[in-house]
Amino acid sequence: MSAVTQGRAELVPVLVVGAGGMGRTWIRTVLDSDASRLVGVVDVVDGAAQRAVQDLVPEHEQPGIATGTELLEVAARSGAEAVIDVTIPAAHHQVTADALHAGYPVLGEKPCAATLAEAVSLAGHAEETGRLFMVSQSRRNNPHLHEARRLADGLGGAGIVDTRFAKAPRFGGFRDEMEHPLLVDMAIHAFDAGRVLLAGTPVSVTATSYNPGWSWYAGDAAATVAITYDTGAVHTYSGSWCSPGDETSWNGDWALHCEGGSVRWDGETPPTAHPSGGDPVPGRAPGPQERWELDASLAEFCAALRGGPVPDSEVHGNVWTQAIVEAAVRSADTGRRVLLADLLDEALVEARELDSADGRSRALQAWKTGASGLGAR
Ligand SMILES: NC(=O)c1ccc[n+]([C@@H]2O[C@H](COP(=O)([O-])OP(=O)(O)OC[C@H]3O[C@@H](n4cnc5c(N)ncnc54)[C@H](O)[C@@H]3O)[C@@H](O)[C@H]2O)c1
Repeated sequence: MSAVTQGRAELVPVLVVGAGGMGRTWIRTVLDSDASRLVGVVDVVDGAAQRAVQDLVPEHEQPGIATGTELLEVAARSGAEAVIDVTIPAAHHQVTADALHAGYPVLGEKPCAATLAEAVSLAGHAEETGRLFMVSQSRRNNPHLHEARRLADGLGGAGIVDTRFAKAPRFGGFRDEMEHPLLVDMAIHAFDAGRVLLAGTPVSVTATSYNPGWSWYAGDAAATVAITYDTGAVHTYSGSWCSPGDETSWNGDWALHCEGGSVRWDGETPPTAHPSGGDPVPGRAPGPQERWELDASLAEFCAALRGGPVPDSEVHGNVWTQAIVEAAVRSADTGRRVLLADLLDEALVEARELDSADGRSRALQAWKTGASGLGAR
């Protein structure tokens, strides 16, 4: 829906929770959005929400934006209809569950939660409350990625997807200390994008992680991963965060292998189809009306609240991506192939324990298995 057809009353009034680096990016996205309007900002650090508003919101609009440190108090005062959770992963479970139980639909930053068990628990909280919980997995909202899928479908559909990722960022901070910085903080995007390109549901993950002698990371900054799907398709990923020189784009370099040819995508420009025995066919360039990244997540979320379709990244669908990450870490640590069904069953047991201690959700009691509760995606 365009800004011209959407009246102010139809704009979804949203509260941004978490005013750190990404929270500020979300505040800008909401201010520029034609689907929502900013009514409040919350951060546990005293004064942080107010500072973000002062820095980012035009001065004449600032008095209309509620700020504070208490989510539910500010939400009520602001007149918010929905919450965007941009807190640190360790806070996602608490913030999202509190918002859902207070009646607010939630758009949450990736990862869904700090652990797979917490993510499964949140799927239950969404069921219990009947509120939408969508995870913003921003890199899946890339028109080139969806064009690559279209081109591959024209060649019979991708059976093998291969991603090569090479970067050499000097972040400093928590990533330098994490045990699996690449797998947990970055590869999640490629695993999720692989799910856009391949039909079916992921089944198993085999991973090896490593840290070259010259790496400036404490944990493993590189990994090789194979993800199998129930359609027989396989996504192979080889990534490194300590490979200077011939670096790929941030999305990585992609090759899609199909019966009738292949598709190449450099992660930045339109993909190209290479039909077997034919000339290369350039993919379509995105039009000006196409939505990207956070703006696309926000538009999809708001449309769903106004009666539109359930987003693909609704929590039940998104948990599969988090399961791939957790399986890759488990496989890298144990040297074994990990079945997602087993991992999800373990997470379900743990999530039920979390929920019974919390006392607000009994929804997971009805799940027969972790995988069936999520539904095949
Ligand atoms: N999609 C992407 O490309 C992308 C990029 C960067 C970060 N992220 C995600 O965005 C989220 C935030 O990352 P960041 O880099 O902004 O982190 P950050 O540490 O800069 O900011 C997090 C903010 O949340 C606040 N906070 C923590 N617990 C809170 C609570 N219970 N209630 C309210 N506020 C709370 C902190 O005070 C801090 O200001 C993470 O989930 C991260 O994975 C996504």
